[in-house]
Amino acid sequence: MTDIDALRAELEGQSPRAILKAALQHYDNLAISFSGAEDVALIEMAHKLTSNLRVFTLDTGRLHPETYEFIDKVREHYRIDIDILFPDAAEVQALVSKKGLFSFYQDGHSECCGIRKVAPLKRKLSTLDAWVTGQRKDQSPGTRNDVPVVQVDTTFDGAGERLIKFNPLANWTSKEVWDYLRMAEAPYNRLHEQGFVSIGCQPCTRPVLPGQHEREGRWWWEEATHKECGLHAGNLIARG
Ligand code: ADX
Ligand code: SF4
Repeated sequence: MTDIDALRAELEGQSPRAILKAALQHYDNLAISFSGAEDVALIEMAHKLTSNLRVFTLDTGRLHPETYEFIDKVREHYRIDIDILFPDAAEVQALVSKKGLFSFYQDGHSECCGIRKVAPLKRKLSTLDAWVTGQRKDQSPGTRNDVPVVQVDTTFDGAGERLIKFNPLANWTSKEVWDYLRMAEAPYNRLHEQGFVSIGCQPCTRPVLPGQHEREGRWWWEEATHKECGLHAGNLIARG
């Protein structure tokens, strides 16, 4: 079994490409979790490193039309299959029948995110040995400062099964991601042309003003310390 502490020590100062390469060498049963610009940078790097590239995305049913176009653009550009995951219809139906379509503005995003994102992610991760995310340390004040390049995922590991989470872009800034995307002429979400930086579901995402942190465009009616939707809940636990 790979010693993850040793692997982290070895990879911490390395480039995202080198981290991805190590991830692919250590784990066959691995997939990239794709939703935004960072993930396209990962796909751009990984598709040159392997012919066995696996990518999935969580379609919450509440994404912007531009995001659906973007997902398809990435699929065509890299000629890859993207596993598009949906929430359980009965769970969504029970929630919206009881509380309406915008309950998150009243009682917070965790219930809706739990059904539309976290449960489908959990189902997917139970089939994998490792996953790769586009998290960066400077992406979210207070919750992602300590994101390591590789970690044991104790939030989503199954009964007795170890799950590994790679965050190859942990030490990159947004500018480094965008410089890389421009150099590669990689596809991007058209919403970025309208002031959106961090993009999630349509009702829970808004553009940011100059000087505002990208995270201020997400769940803006809630406290900054709560701005994890459950996909990366370990970041909150790690902070104690
Ligand atoms: S979120 O937890 O607040 O929604 P964020 O948008 O910052 O996450 O993205 C961080 C990483 O989480 C992405 O780089 C991607 O790996 C993963 N991720 C976020 N949303 C999705 C999604 N809808 N489908 C797949 N992966 C996602
Ligand atoms: Fe629901 Fe908003 Fe979470 Fe999307 S981001 S799953 S709409 S609460």
